[in-house]
Amino acid sequence: MRTFSHARAKRFYDRFGARQDRGALYERRPIELLIENAELDEATAVFEFGCGTGRLAERLLSRHLPERATYTAVDISDTMFELTRERLAPWGPRAEVRLTAGDMDLDAAGSSHDRFVCAYVFDLLSVDDIHKLLGEARRVLRPGGLLCLASLTAGHGFGAKLATGLWRLAYLIAPALVGGCRPIRLWRHIYAEHWEARYRRVVCPGGLCSEVLVASCVKDGEAP
Ligand SMILES: C[S@@+](CC[C@H](N)C(=O)[O-])C[C@H]1O[C@@H](n2cnc3c(N)ncnc32)[C@H](O)[C@@H]1O
Repeated sequence: MRTFSHARAKRFYDRFGARQDRGALYERRPIELLIENAELDEATAVFEFGCGTGRLAERLLSRHLPERATYTAVDISDTMFELTRERLAPWGPRAEVRLTAGDMDLDAAGSSHDRFVCAYVFDLLSVDDIHKLLGEARRVLRPGGLLCLASLTAGHGFGAKLATGLWRLAYLIAPALVGGCRPIRLWRHIYAEHWEARYRRVVCPGGLCSEVLVASCVKDGEAP
């Protein structure tokens, strides 16, 4: 299945902007589960890939992270970058937002973060990019750091299968109808020797299914 190119994703989200926060009722429960299971009260340095409007970053900084925790958020879209920058301004230097060219190479030192957060972005990346990004997440996370992901996924049961089928059809006809996102199975891309699952659940509010995955980073020869 062909995915959005980086340039197309940028064009789409530059136009879409703040509308990202309006729809997506199906994201609410999965995001709650992600937050509940990310052990955020112990986090010191968070990296978020594809931060969108900065809504999750704002929520984590204001309600869930310790006062000293830092937050680095990246996005390919100028519009999203600006929205996040405005939103995170109250946190000053603790919260940094960066505009990227869409590369999977993360501008962060090895073992520099203890949470890698990414919500509803893996489902618009190519399989090649998914593997590169997971490799980068592992590089920037400290041993024992947590990979915290939410993504659209395929569902079981009649209602969920119907909703997944309709979503896939829309994606095949015109990927822009569904923001370039298609249901994927995150777990299939996770190597057991690199990640130890802490939490994994599929939830289907309103029939649209999301996979929530929290896994800790396994690195040989480095103490947690
Ligand atoms: C479906 S939105 C999700 C936004 C946000 N994470 C949320 O849950 O509301 C996808 C986001 O990923 C960003 N994005 C897409 N491809 C990207 C890439 N290659 N690098 C960085 N950001 C990307 C888009 O600009 C957009 O903000």
